[in-house]
Amino acid sequence: MEKTLVQNIGLLCTPQGSSVHAGEMQGQMEKIPEACVLMEDGIITYAGSQADFPMEKAQGAQVIDAGGNLVTPGLIDAHTHLVFGGWRQHEIPLKLAGTGYLDILRMGGGILSTVRHTREASEEELLRRSEGFLNEMLSMGVTSCEIKSGYGLDLENELKQLRVIKKLQETHPMDIDATFLGAHAVPEEYKEDPDGYVDLLTEKILPAVAEEKLARCCDVFCETGAFDVPQSRKVLMAGKALGLVPRIHADEIDAIGGAELSAEVGALSAEHLIASNEEGMQAMAKGGVIADLLPATSFYLDKTFAPARRMVELGIPVVIASDFNPGSCPSLNLPFAMNLGLLRYKLKPEEVLCAVTLNAACSVGMGDKVGTVEAGKQGDLVIWDAPDLDMILYRFGSNLCRTVIKKGRVAHEKG
Ligand code: NIG
Ligand code: FE
Repeated sequence: MEKTLVQNIGLLCTPQGSSVHAGEMQGQMEKIPEACVLMEDGIITYAGSQADFPMEKAQGAQVIDAGGNLVTPGLIDAHTHLVFGGWRQHEIPLKLAGTGYLDILRMGGGILSTVRHTREASEEELLRRSEGFLNEMLSMGVTSCEIKSGYGLDLENELKQLRVIKKLQETHPMDIDATFLGAHAVPEEYKEDPDGYVDLLTEKILPAVAEEKLARCCDVFCETGAFDVPQSRKVLMAGKALGLVPRIHADEIDAIGGAELSAEVGALSAEHLIASNEEGMQAMAKGGVIADLLPATSFYLDKTFAPARRMVELGIPVVIASDFNPGSCPSLNLPFAMNLGLLRYKLKPEEVLCAVTLNAACSVGMGDKVGTVEAGKQGDLVIWDAPDLDMILYRFGSNLCRTVIKKGRVAHEKG
């Protein structure tokens, strides 16, 4: 049996349970001073006060001294697009000249530019690059994540992207949730026939994805210039009929009804919600939809920030994720998104931590396995270079991650 004991934890800070925390619960956090955590074969068997710990249980364990620091669950990035070819730094002059995100897309750039690069890249190239991104995320405390396809936009290249994700699931230490986002943009070859592309998605690509079991969820970019509500509904319902859980990019730029649609189709989550209005949020609250918020995208697109406080008030469970992608958020820094959660959403530190741990775990279908530091859960945790939660949310821009432990083993240590 492989045992690891993390001792001399100054403060263990973790939500508890396996299901989403909403409303007041979002900020409810177990805070245990002078704690230790024992992991046996990758599973937590003790998490609590060091004084109460029967030391004989740790016999033969590798001992890690947390140095009196803060320990939290490993972070979970519930929304990324990290398998892609090329970058889009050439869009910066356009951005500076005030050209909008959707205008760049309309001109054949934006997502479509990344589609060209992704189609050109081999599976092997995409795999190597994505591994690099995952390793960088791990060094910032991220131990599980979600990855979407959506830069292939045809059968061959969507499957290529999803197979890369599958390889990563098999080989990378992180736990990874796969989402099919074939409805990310209308590809150039269907420019004159967007409904024809929706038919291709529902009749051909989605069945192939389901057949190969390449994704757990199906997502749609429901937006002006991407897919309208009827098209989005059609894709999500077709996915649902094949066993794929619906989730949706909604109200990122314009509130065209995506939040309402998320409730109507029983989506697990609606994501972005920058432009959400009261009606959309009320629908989500009634429908039990998770709000997956992406503040670093608001920051990079120079948009307003999603009404996160109102969502907590309405009892909508809030998740914070990075949205890492080459166009609207070329940063994979989840701790930075957490900083914005505090500074811009005005969420409390405890609410922010829940948004990137337990709630995020539930939104990637792993609530019973990760997201909290409790006996029975997987041994995924972070030792921070900080005495408390306030410190990591306050010191934006620095990587305060000291040691990252994944499945009971040290996966990253600050050099
Ligand atoms: O979540 N808006 C749609 N998808 C991504 C951006 C993708 C891109 O610009 O390449 C997002 O913001
Ligand atoms: Fe996104």
